Amino acid sequence: MTRTLIRGGLVVTAADETHADVLIEDGRVAALAAHGSACAEGWSAERTIDATGKYVIPGGVDGHTHMDFPFGGTFSSDTFETGTRAAAWGGTTTIVDFAVQTKGQALREGLDLWHAKSDAQCAIDYGFHMILSDVNEHTLKEMDLLVAEGITSFKLFMAYPGVFYSDDGQILRAMQRAAANGGLIMMHAENGIAIDVLVEQALAAGRTDPRYHGEVRKALLEAEATHRAIQLARVAGAPLYVVHVSAEEALAELTAARDLGLNVFGETCPQYLFLSTDNLAEPDFEGAKYVCSTPLRPREHQSALWRGLRTNDLQVVSTDHCPFCFSGQKELGRGDFSKIPNGMPGVEHRMDLLHQAVVDGHISRRRWIEIACATPARMFGLYPRKGTIAPGADADIVIYDPHAEQVLSVETHHMNVDYSAYEGKRITGRVETVLSRGEPVIESREFTGRAGHGQYLPRGTCQYLI
Ligand code: URP
Ligand code: ZN
Ligand code: ZN
Repeated sequence: MTRTLIRGGLVVTAADETHADVLIEDGRVAALAAHGSACAEGWSAERTIDATGKYVIPGGVDGHTHMDFPFGGTFSSDTFETGTRAAAWGGTTTIVDFAVQTKGQALREGLDLWHAKSDAQCAIDYGFHMILSDVNEHTLKEMDLLVAEGITSFKLFMAYPGVFYSDDGQILRAMQRAAANGGLIMMHAENGIAIDVLVEQALAAGRTDPRYHGEVRKALLEAEATHRAIQLARVAGAPLYVVHVSAEEALAELTAARDLGLNVFGETCPQYLFLSTDNLAEPDFEGAKYVCSTPLRPREHQSALWRGLRTNDLQVVSTDHCPFCFSGQKELGRGDFSKIPNGMPGVEHRMDLLHQAVVDGHISRRRWIEIACATPARMFGLYPRKGTIAPGADADIVIYDPHAEQVLSVETHHMNVDYSAYEGKRITGRVETVLSRGEPVIESREFTGRAGHGQYLPRGTCQYLI
């Protein structure tokens, strides 16, 4: 039996903050005991980590990543190997990535491809959601099989006509199926049909700069789609999880639905909390670095999102990590913003940016862990194996130095992308050591993990329903 002991830290979970020692046996948390207690003093282990003055927190659970993801004629620049290594550097020990069904193919084909991309590549544990690009009789039946084997959530798109888009009838059918089989529908809520009209009009008027990406993808069209998705989910009797919420008006729709007691949930991402349309308007095509959908919004939306995170009208912060290099990838859209691949890098920085939010007073320490670890684990059927530090849980544990200072930069990050969306941003707090199932993957800021350590996680159904 291999034992590791973490001594002297402040253990922070979504529920508690305690000065406790943590005993790990064979990759799992065996016990916690008050620091200095006779019980803890009696423990011995092959390896002891001194966490004095540090936080001991659950590894982050990032429920929304796109590794090696096809978009706009190219692929996101992080593979499962590079992306999960970067995630580990940032204190994330589980990702749930999106397997893609290509139009005309079976879900199974897409899923097999995602297993082939990720098998023996990952530094940390990983699961899959499934993107439905083609809802039909066959794929509806396949949904049942996927839920039974641990792919328990399905993303639908009200955006991107001709690519990932589903119409309202397809959405309703998929929701009905999810209501019956226990799956969770995740919705990209933007009215893509209306957006495409505005894109065409903008380009015809010579508005080709990246900033127009933000102007045509209007907040009202996010809100309208969010409202419609909620009503369709009500009709189907299905729970709904709206991904990458960026607009105050869309959040208001979620809040109203939750006030009715509906199983409607919302996720936002660090880019909507820390960046804005000011970034999209950066000159010399630099705004392309910030093109993602839903788009960045005017700064005024941020306070609503922070409030939503505090009031639990938003439950999760994921990254929607979908990096494209500026050189050669984002540049595909020079002269036509609609050809800029949509997506931003971020898997490495979520835990740090949210710690900065604790320092800045937006959220509490326990809420940090709740929105970044515990709730995503519950939402996606991984709790309590992931998302907490408790006897029986996987020993996915981060030793976090809350006083260290760092500056985010492309020069120092580990994501496979040639720019940082947060270049020069100062952060108080930094990951020091990361354990994945008890194994150090980052040790005193050295990468000690390996591709292939990460295991595939079949998931249970959503554990967050009211
Ligand atoms: O811009 C984004 N979000 N790219 C990734 C695909 C998606 O819609 O999540
Ligand atoms: Zn999306
Ligand atoms: Zn996404």
